[in-house]
Amino acid sequence: MRILSGIQPSGVLHIGNYFGMIQPAIALQAEGEAFYFIANYHALTSVQNPDRLRENSRRIAIDFLACGFDPDRGALFLQSDVPQVAELEWILSTVAPMGLLERAHSYKDKLARGMVASAGLFIYPVLMAADILIYDSDIVPVGKDQKQHIEITRDLAVKMNETYGSEPDRPIFKLPAPRIQPETETVPGIDGQKMSKSYGNTIDIFGEEKETRKRVMSIVTDSTPVEAPKNPDTSTTFQLFSLFGSKDEIAEMRDRFRKGGTGYGEFKKQLFDKLWDYFAPMRKRRQELLADELYVDKVLVRGAQRANEVADGVMIRVRAAVGLT
Ligand code: ADP
Ligand code: TRP
Repeated sequence: MRILSGIQPSGVLHIGNYFGMIQPAIALQAEGEAFYFIANYHALTSVQNPDRLRENSRRIAIDFLACGFDPDRGALFLQSDVPQVAELEWILSTVAPMGLLERAHSYKDKLARGMVASAGLFIYPVLMAADILIYDSDIVPVGKDQKQHIEITRDLAVKMNETYGSEPDRPIFKLPAPRIQPETETVPGIDGQKMSKSYGNTIDIFGEEKETRKRVMSIVTDSTPVEAPKNPDTSTTFQLFSLFGSKDEIAEMRDRFRKGGTGYGEFKKQLFDKLWDYFAPMRKRRQELLADELYVDKVLVRGAQRANEVADGVMIRVRAAVGLT
């Protein structure tokens, strides 16, 4: 079984990325061959500063390893080290209905937030489909916001199979399935909206201690007084604590919310302590990785070699199917 996912180097990783994608993706390494890549082609739609793109890409690779990715059980690589994916994107774009892409939430959201409607931004989901299909991927671990992109991928795979598959029992492309964890599909940010790099509401995995504490303490709350009972189910602080605490700790905090007598500040302190401890071993591993540049380079080279092997095989099949060879 092949498990594949990508993450854009458009900024620094936050705990929404961690619980929505990184942690499930790393856990899935036990179930098959993992292909995880840094989506630097995709990031060109928003990062147009070459130094920053290079720096972010490397940082994501280091952070992914620090979070527990095992390079002996899977491939970690840069998207652009497999340029065939851009060829497949072109081929897929020739069967991609405009209407399908016009309905993409992510594209519409980005326009609503003032991004320029470049052609690249519009066909972003076609490149993502190419990313997935070029490795014959079975499972794609992502957060909920990517679900529609995987549906588009399946639509394009079916379209290609129908248009060019000469034998129905031997389709050109496998149909990939999303793997979305219901408990962590949308991690809230400090303002209660979905946590996202582009909303400025993140708590970063590897932020500085002082800044991280400050972010946690500024989680938006209602104005319920200290002594009054509080509703844990509508509280961002409680929701975030639930990601880190043990079952008993979560139950205890829930009780204290309901009972009243504890202010939000106290709950936030508890959340910060838990969060800071949780990532401590990963911070330590990250320091080691930062001191060993060569190791990270080797991991990326090895990952790219493996990814190229698989992509080359699939492209031979695709080129023949459409009549390029
Ligand atoms: P961002 O929205 O911060 O730019 P990305 O689009 O780079 O994040 O997302 C990378 C991965 O992390 C995707 O699989 C995405 O679904 C997941 N993800 C991002 N934000 C969240 C969140 N708040 N909750 C759950 N998963 C998330
Ligand atoms: N679009 C994804 C995001 O913004 C990143 C991505 C690019 C991806 N290609 C992918 C995710 C392929 C999964 C599979 O988060």
